[in-house]
Amino acid sequence: MLRRLHHDQPATFAFTPDNLAWAKAQITKYPEGRQASAIIPLLWRAQEQEGWLSRPAIEYVADMLGMAYIRALEVATFYFMFQLSPVGSVAHVQICGTTSCMICGAEDLISICQDKIAPKAHQLSADGKFSWEEVECLGACANAPMAQIGKDYYEDLTAERLTEILDALAAGEVPVPGPQNGRFAAEPLAGLSSLKEFNSGHTQFNASAQAAVNLRDTVKRIDGSEVPLLAPWGRQSGQDILEKPQTDSPVLSKGHSADATGIDKREAPVTPKTPPASSEPVVAEGRKPQSLSAPRDGTPDDLKMIKGVGPRLEQLLHRMGFYHFDQIAAWSGDEIAWVDQNLQGFKGRVSRDDWVDQARILVSGGKTEFASRVKKGDVY
Ligand code: FES
Repeated sequence: MLRRLHHDQPATFAFTPDNLAWAKAQITKYPEGRQASAIIPLLWRAQEQEGWLSRPAIEYVADMLGMAYIRALEVATFYFMFQLSPVGSVAHVQICGTTSCMICGAEDLISICQDKIAPKAHQLSADGKFSWEEVECLGACANAPMAQIGKDYYEDLTAERLTEILDALAAGEVPVPGPQNGRFAAEPLAGLSSLKEFNSGHTQFNASAQAAVNLRDTVKRIDGSEVPLLAPWGRQSGQDILEKPQTDSPVLSKGHSADATGIDKREAPVTPKTPPASSEPVVAEGRKPQSLSAPRDGTPDDLKMIKGVGPRLEQLLHRMGFYHFDQIAAWSGDEIAWVDQNLQGFKGRVSRDDWVDQARILVSGGKTEFASRVKKGDVY
């Protein structure tokens, strides 16, 4: 397959401020004179931001690394992980068409993509939401046929199930990745015959699917505000890099290895340049809202029903004395400012996600679209 730059290119590209900080930190991982080695992560982050790699993006990264454009172009066109033409705004679907998957029904899956997305690979669907392609073995042959959608694997697929998944994605939902036929992982269809103590009860889903559930970035674009700014620790002269966080500062690796943290991408924190030394308030701006020493009747509300609050932020709110929707619903502008400033690695989330408005709806017995999806188990 020819891998060429798309005929229709944007005029410019620039990293978001957060992604730029992340990229600069990546570069410091490499010795002086070897900065070009950062090309893969930087191109990947550019793709995570935009969905695909445009010529301006490739040249922007080349400029950052002091590389000739042709060198960066060689990398971008060599690796199939880089998309050289626009992809669907919701998801790019990669159907494995290699032996195991082909035997087990990959052609049916491709037919679904042709019917529901576009007749040819790398074409956008009419609504611009989806694109698809056939790829070589993705290493999940025991769960054939399978597809990678966004960043995660959907395995043990049937044409019917892929149809449902695409419909759900189009409706704004993100079905849980992993086996789609009830299997936990890649155990025999008849169930485990040995090592039966494994795969049971440790997590709701297998490690990969559980990581996807925790991270919530399966089909999400990354502007850098959702992920920590990973950096080698220390400071080099003249470079804007990050300092090592305190041990209780939330830091996770991008990708599936971070699942053990339990941090989800809605609230994945950006490592602050000067992290707070403790959970005590660090900024005097605004006014602290009235707090409680414990939840009333011993039962807090499920604050995760508020869009933007995941398990980690819920814990932080509890430590600050906020347990109930009505507490949040009553915050004034001054109080919002105080909480926003004291969310440590999550600064600004209260106003960014309109927690107060959401809480007012929930405390009045109303429903938000997000809370309904949480209740249905559609949000992870
Ligand atoms: Fe499809 Fe290996 S053949 S994942």
